[in-house]
Amino acid sequence: MGDPHPNPPSASPSPPSTDAPKLRARSLARSFGRGAKALAALGPVDLDIVPGEFACIVGPSGCGKSTLLRIAAGLLRPSAGELSIRTTAPRPAAMIFQDYGIYDWKTVLANVRFGLDIQRVPRKEADARAHDWLSRIGLAEFAGAYPAALSGGMRQRVAIARALAVEPEILLMDEPFAALDAQLRTILQDELLELTQTTRTTTLFITHSLEEAIVLGDRVLVMSARPGRIIAERRPPFERPRTGDIRSTPEFTALKSELWDLLRGEVRGEAALV
Ligand SMILES: Nc1ncnc2c1ncn2[C@@H]1O[C@H](COP(=O)(O)OP(=O)(O)O)[C@@H](O)[C@H]1O
Ligand SMILES: [Mg+2]
Repeated sequence: MGDPHPNPPSASPSPPSTDAPKLRARSLARSFGRGAKALAALGPVDLDIVPGEFACIVGPSGCGKSTLLRIAAGLLRPSAGELSIRTTAPRPAAMIFQDYGIYDWKTVLANVRFGLDIQRVPRKEADARAHDWLSRIGLAEFAGAYPAALSGGMRQRVAIARALAVEPEILLMDEPFAALDAQLRTILQDELLELTQTTRTTTLFITHSLEEAIVLGDRVLVMSARPGRIIAERRPPFERPRTGDIRSTPEFTALKSELWDLLRGEVRGEAALV
């Protein structure tokens, strides 16, 4: 989980309307290095994510997806343009990475409680909320265990519970299931679908997987090869609340192949997207 955005820019002097974007990027670009050796990693990108929206970004490896998420999390500065996140303290942005980012020296309960401790939620309430989240992710009996005793899927569940426990205004997820095997990945996709449809947390979700993006997303944005720009977007035609059963519909297959056609030209010999 990331830090709260260091400088949440409150762009407009008048109060934003309730459906003003939670995340807004304008001509956002990032390069690494200087002069002739500069590497254009990202952009320019324009993007608006509205409250409650679950936006997924798919793109070839190395196209700048993590760079975009790190800028959104306030971990990296743009080289040009801007990105703003509208949050009302103390509800922060929360980030979930591929490698879990949970603390091995803290118990499962303390890991889930971590963001609440930072927010100075009173201990009793924090414990109760953390226990509640552990039940929701099916890990109630592991409250006192240490992460070393958990499988990869369980560790990632802990990371998800920790991020959602702070009731973030925006959730930033960078290929959170990429390290998991296909079956576990499907299970966690379905769990995340259920959780986020309950909380309606505004989410920016990066993935390699078209299937994952279609199952989870209100909108799937396709990025070009580096420097990554948004070259297309599609709205999966499935009502909410939806379940993983949509995977077996013809609409799902059709959208997957349409997105794959869009991406095919961008992948340029990278490992095939799954
Ligand atoms: N800190 C950095 N310094 C130099 N180059 C970087 C740095 N971070 C990322 N890059 C480069 O920027 C490009 C985009 O990286 P990244 O955002 O991690 O891509 P993705 O997440 O889409 O795979 C890559 O070519 C990568 O090597
Ligand atoms: Mg990445």
